[in-house]
Amino acid sequence: MEYGHFDTSRREYVITKPNTPSPWANYLGSPDHGAIITNNAGGYSFAGSGSAGRVLRYRFNEQDKPGRYLYLRDDEDGDFWSASWQPVGKPPETYTSLCRHGLGYTVLEAGYRSVLSRVTYYVPMGGRHEVWSLSITNTDTKPRALSVFGYAEFTNEGHYDQDQINLQYTQFITRTHFYAPFILQTINENNAVLGEAPPSRFFAMVGEDITSYCGDRHSFLGRYRGYENPVAVERGLCDGELNYGGNGCGALHARLRLAPGETRTLLFLLGQLERDDARCLAGGYNAQRVQSELAGLSDHWRGKLQNLSVKTPDRAFNTMVNTWNPYQCFITFHWSRAASLIYCGLRNGYGYRDSVQDIQGIIHLDPPMAKEKLQFMLSAQVHHGGALPLVKFTHHPGEENSPEDPAYALETGHPSYRADDALWLFPTLYKYLAETGNMAFLDEKIPYADRGGDSVYRHLLKALDFSMNHLGLHGLPAGLHADWNDCLRLGEKGVSSFLAFQLYLAISIMARLAARRGDGEVAKAMERNGAQLAERIEAHYWDGDRYIRGIDENGEPVGSAASPEASLWLNPQTWSIISGCAGDARAEKLLDLVNRELATPYGAVLMAPAYKEHLREGALARLFNPGMKENGGVFLQTQGWLILAEAYMDRGDQAFNYYTASCPAAQDHDLREMEPYAYSQFSEGMESPHTGRSHVPWLTGTASTVMVSCVEGILGLRPDLDGLKISPAIPSRWKGMTMEKVYRGKRLNIEVARTGKGPALSLNGQKMEGLYIPANRLEEENEVLVEI
Ligand code: GLC
Repeated sequence: MEYGHFDTSRREYVITKPNTPSPWANYLGSPDHGAIITNNAGGYSFAGSGSAGRVLRYRFNEQDKPGRYLYLRDDEDGDFWSASWQPVGKPPETYTSLCRHGLGYTVLEAGYRSVLSRVTYYVPMGGRHEVWSLSITNTDTKPRALSVFGYAEFTNEGHYDQDQINLQYTQFITRTHFYAPFILQTINENNAVLGEAPPSRFFAMVGEDITSYCGDRHSFLGRYRGYENPVAVERGLCDGELNYGGNGCGALHARLRLAPGETRTLLFLLGQLERDDARCLAGGYNAQRVQSELAGLSDHWRGKLQNLSVKTPDRAFNTMVNTWNPYQCFITFHWSRAASLIYCGLRNGYGYRDSVQDIQGIIHLDPPMAKEKLQFMLSAQVHHGGALPLVKFTHHPGEENSPEDPAYALETGHPSYRADDALWLFPTLYKYLAETGNMAFLDEKIPYADRGGDSVYRHLLKALDFSMNHLGLHGLPAGLHADWNDCLRLGEKGVSSFLAFQLYLAISIMARLAARRGDGEVAKAMERNGAQLAERIEAHYWDGDRYIRGIDENGEPVGSAASPEASLWLNPQTWSIISGCAGDARAEKLLDLVNRELATPYGAVLMAPAYKEHLREGALARLFNPGMKENGGVFLQTQGWLILAEAYMDRGDQAFNYYTASCPAAQDHDLREMEPYAYSQFSEGMESPHTGRSHVPWLTGTASTVMVSCVEGILGLRPDLDGLKISPAIPSRWKGMTMEKVYRGKRLNIEVARTGKGPALSLNGQKMEGLYIPANRLEEENEVLVEI
């Protein structure tokens, strides 16, 4: 069933049926004040940390409740409803609703008994508070007497888990106060005398006089009631009770009389601020400010997305590539894995590999932002080249403990190095250099996490040293605590083929950089290392028709044709191609094998068959039901690599088939269940009774990997250090497409046409060699024709 549609001109997803298969969310603000909101206004807010700075309560796994609730009431007959379909949940035949998830804002519209409401939720740019701007229109022919109630359920304490389970403490440390026009919640109030109290929270109403209020959840909801029928709303009046020893909330009520056709606007503000700041903030709000803040958000996002836009024959692809995939990439870039509706950021730091991969998703749109994050991630490399598996939000380069130090494990929960972390720097940094041509970055000095510092170039050499100093069996790179696959423990001596291909790519990138700098010694060493690694890969990982996944500490192969379970793994096959290690003829055969044995209508599974009986100690995937996550699920991040590998081999039809199979916009929403505009972490694989159902949306590596596979793979925009290759791998049925791209500050209007005369590329009317545009040939504005 369709629950909505894309509104491409407004860059919104419009949900027209509110009973979506799962809560469909949007992300507002930034982790300074982060807000997750669903199509039924469910979700929560936090300041700084989703687990330790929680402002609004949300009960995980509990029907998307509570949320940012606005109740409306007819004061003549007492009938009441909510501005979102839930929580009151009026029968759909009497209630119309619309949710518009936009870039940095969400709008909920509702119509019930001739009253229209429209509420826009957003966090202003750089803001540390959120705004719920509510307009109510009387479309009746007679005047209407209405009540509006805004309801925000504060946590009793910033720590999510304390708030949920340690009530013997958290309920007795919090109070609410009423200082018109807001409810203020304080925590450990007495400690303020010592300057040690946690910050307070406020919920304000601006634009109408407050008729009644309460700051106590119990007195708002009433005994044995829920969010669907709060006693205060039913009664039409809050009782003025404030919290002292129970659960705090902000509930603010206004009575309005609306003439026929009249519209009134009320603003609700919420955040973590001290009393005077809250008063000051509320005092400065009005409808004009809301308009200008929304315009600011829209300018911000327009700016972020303007460096690439495409027009292909496929609408879902256009919408995803132009708007939703990059939007998700930016959100993931900023939020890392901070908070969602299914986890709340207990990690309290940036996962190294995840963050370095996330950067790849935004390089083509915002290289300066990518550079800043690269600097940060390089500064989380330890002096010997390994990377901190978890980089604290409070990271201080030069002063951090490293995993050698027991204190690091205690503090972060990460006992040792991951084998792959620092290797992600190579493709990410290379993409940045190729996009910008900023080779000077390689000479920039950046500190290490623990001590000392080096140029970026030397950071990379150190990263290679780390891998070369951690070789296991047969002189291949060791799996250590994990490689990309968190569920694969191969150990100190066990070795991973995915890692070997990553290292092979890293070495070849280093060789290119060294050659470019005239560093003959390094270039030669890289050539030698690369050739030696390729030989070892061939000798120990090639299994006749596939690459195996690794070799465990006892010398047993993992994922070979003879394995009773998990006999074919996706990543080694795709990465043998992405790394340039497998030759073309072999690459084609590998892709065919993957297609025969791993493909489902929803993408290719991570490996097959899933672990069920033939278990091995280090295969933590066995913990999951067969077909879930790393145990034979369709791990969606890896679809990006598969699409890319197909595109590198110029198999446009197959690349696009995989794209469509896993594209959220193109799927059966009742089956997939997740948002049609956001990628998830995985879909269930073949062994599951729910093949194709997806999970863990939004903050996932899928966003950046698929983004890269679209831009570099399908669209074929492949910059290198000296220029841009344009080699699209599009479906044979497409007659052409156009793209507008900003590359190194120059504008390119690119037309791709299937004339049958290609492959050929002309720049401003001049024929170029090999589908390639040297950067120094670009004018300010360029017309590019690519014939295929
Ligand atoms: C999750 C992790 C990521 C890991 C992947 C595969 O997405 O965040 O770091 O690479 O799972 O295990």
